[in-house]
Amino acid sequence: MFKEFEPRALEILAKMSLREKIGQLNQAVMPYDEASMKAFKDRLRRGEVGSIILSTSATAGNDEQKAVVVEMLNDLQRVSVEEGPQGIPLLFGRDVIHGHHTVLPIPLASACSFDPELCREAYRTVALDATSEGTNWTFSPMMDVCRDPRWGRIIEGYGEDPYLAGRMAAATVKGFQGDDLSDPDSMLACAKHYLGYGFSEGGRDYNRTEISDYTVQNVVLAPFREAVKAGVGTVMSSFNDISGEPVTSSKKYLTDILRGQLGFEGFVISDWFSVQQLIRQGIAEEYEDCAHLSINAGLDMDMADEHYSRFLEGDVLAGRVSEETIDRAVLRVICVKLAKGLFEKPYAVSKSVDRKEFVRVAERLAADSMILVKNENNTLPFPKKTSVALTGPYTFERRGLQGGWALDGYLGASTPNMEEAMREIVEGEGGGRLMCTGGRMNDDSNYIFSHSDHIVLALGESYEDTGEARSLSDISLPKAQIEMARKAKMSGKKTVGVIFCGRPVALEEIEPYLDAILIAWHGGTRAAHAAVRTVFGDYTPSGKAAVTFVRRTGHIPLYYGITCSGREVNGYYGEGASNCYTDCPASPLYPFGYGLSYTSFEYSAPTAERDEIELDALKAGEKLRFAVKVKNTGERAGKEVVQLYIRDLKASMMRPLRELKAFKKEELAPGEEREFVFEIGYESLGFYLPDGTYTVEPGRFEIYLGDRSTTTNKVDITVK
Ligand code: GLC
Repeated sequence: MFKEFEPRALEILAKMSLREKIGQLNQAVMPYDEASMKAFKDRLRRGEVGSIILSTSATAGNDEQKAVVVEMLNDLQRVSVEEGPQGIPLLFGRDVIHGHHTVLPIPLASACSFDPELCREAYRTVALDATSEGTNWTFSPMMDVCRDPRWGRIIEGYGEDPYLAGRMAAATVKGFQGDDLSDPDSMLACAKHYLGYGFSEGGRDYNRTEISDYTVQNVVLAPFREAVKAGVGTVMSSFNDISGEPVTSSKKYLTDILRGQLGFEGFVISDWFSVQQLIRQGIAEEYEDCAHLSINAGLDMDMADEHYSRFLEGDVLAGRVSEETIDRAVLRVICVKLAKGLFEKPYAVSKSVDRKEFVRVAERLAADSMILVKNENNTLPFPKKTSVALTGPYTFERRGLQGGWALDGYLGASTPNMEEAMREIVEGEGGGRLMCTGGRMNDDSNYIFSHSDHIVLALGESYEDTGEARSLSDISLPKAQIEMARKAKMSGKKTVGVIFCGRPVALEEIEPYLDAILIAWHGGTRAAHAAVRTVFGDYTPSGKAAVTFVRRTGHIPLYYGITCSGREVNGYYGEGASNCYTDCPASPLYPFGYGLSYTSFEYSAPTAERDEIELDALKAGEKLRFAVKVKNTGERAGKEVVQLYIRDLKASMMRPLRELKAFKKEELAPGEEREFVFEIGYESLGFYLPDGTYTVEPGRFEIYLGDRSTTTNKVDITVK
């Protein structure tokens, strides 16, 4: 995709001086004050900057950011194009992670929709929203597989499973980049953080990781394979090391695997100041060593710390870096700029956008991402014509609904809070009566609990406790919220806890007090409406857990894709409970793939078209077909996510007890039965050896078809 632009890029490269080439490898921080703007433009005139990051801080995700002003960007672009030495346009990068002015649910929530197509559609609106103000490159999607919810950045990825993460990453790349990357409405996407950042030890951000080649190949690399196949134009290298080797200066990861094995053609940008980090990581002795260690490994562009612009020229003259290495990196950057169409259309055209459509899509995705994890005696949906008490810290909260990394989310009326959504939907549409308090401690909730028929507790975690540099040692809800739920329970009224969270918070303590629990996530601009319409039955919940909900923090790490132990300690699947922990069950509170509906679904036993297949036939492209009948046995329509897992019972390496390999989300009418057919082949039955070789080994497999990772609904097949 990007190599096709090489001939033109080579012509441009041939005219460039060494300094101008190095300029293309430098991403400078946007100067927001007048004083430095003049000097900055002189740098553009000398061709010393290839890209500008639109951020005012190292942890842009939760810090106040300056808005993007299209006139300012076009002014800088004009200087670069019309006064720069080669007229090469700039790329403007910004963390448009899960929305611009209209904010989508956090990516972890979107993964719970199990609806890649809806995600693609939603991220297309984000591209329209952000490009209308001049940003043409986003540092998204983040696809770090993570199994430790103490890590604040678990919110930005797609959860614990490599297959689901790959599906969602590819869909998001396609949403941002569209069918034509050169379309001004399309945004250049960035697959990050390459590689293994989600395995930060102890869930402590920026920490070391210990990841074997086997786990690299089969878990953390998987989403990046899909993003590269989807044509992602850039990759961001990660802060972390992998078992003692910083990715920033690793030829193994940045060149041999990313380019040699995955065939990535775009360019790699560092993370914020991660080139300079090599000093702290004890790999570079002197400041000036960071640059050559990075670029010789395959790191093309340097974000924010200016090491490339300060040291690379000296490195080339001293022979530490060859000019071919510089040329190779510059060629990649110019090919991506050509593919983006920047040479033909360098300027952003400010245009009005259909925000109503963005809001509609945002609400649909928020609703389809929400997970009903408890619904005792069909507590939900509540009738609208009722007297309902609303309280809890998220009663009047707006900003928190958007979650971390919502740099440009409009606040105010465009982010309705729970009180407003309840007034509109319960009182306005339903003729009900709402009584609410400000969610202060329970001193003011007794009255409204006693004078209402139903209770909605708007609970959750602060978005300030999520995102970058926001790891927690305890992921349970605050005690005040548990006390509030206990009071509600004492009232004897039907109570739902609506949990606005970024992580899969530990709910063991609060769960007994709530009749129903809806995981609403930090669901974005329309989180309140999506939650209220779900609680009161306009929407039927269909989200499924993209990450395991542990009972308590001490269970971490706990994930469904575990390999089978030599002893009975597979507590995830309820095996050997007393051998796991002697003080509490080792099974999850809610397993991966789990989520309830307002209707119910019955599964037949799965069937296989054939119970064995030759390995050569698989290699030749023959497929295995499996089917399962699903019946909606309730009174209302509902969407079900039918999931297909495999288990390879014997192989040369230990394989997980379950691996998600396919899923389908479809709506069934009341009473409707539908046969779901899945075809899987060679690419689904194998695994990667530590050296990156893919293999399918003969032997027995179990194929599971069900509504969660712990389903026992299976059929056996053999690969001969
Ligand atoms: C941050 C994050 C990265 C972000 C970049 C620019 O430190 O690690 O995800 O895109 O810097 O803000």
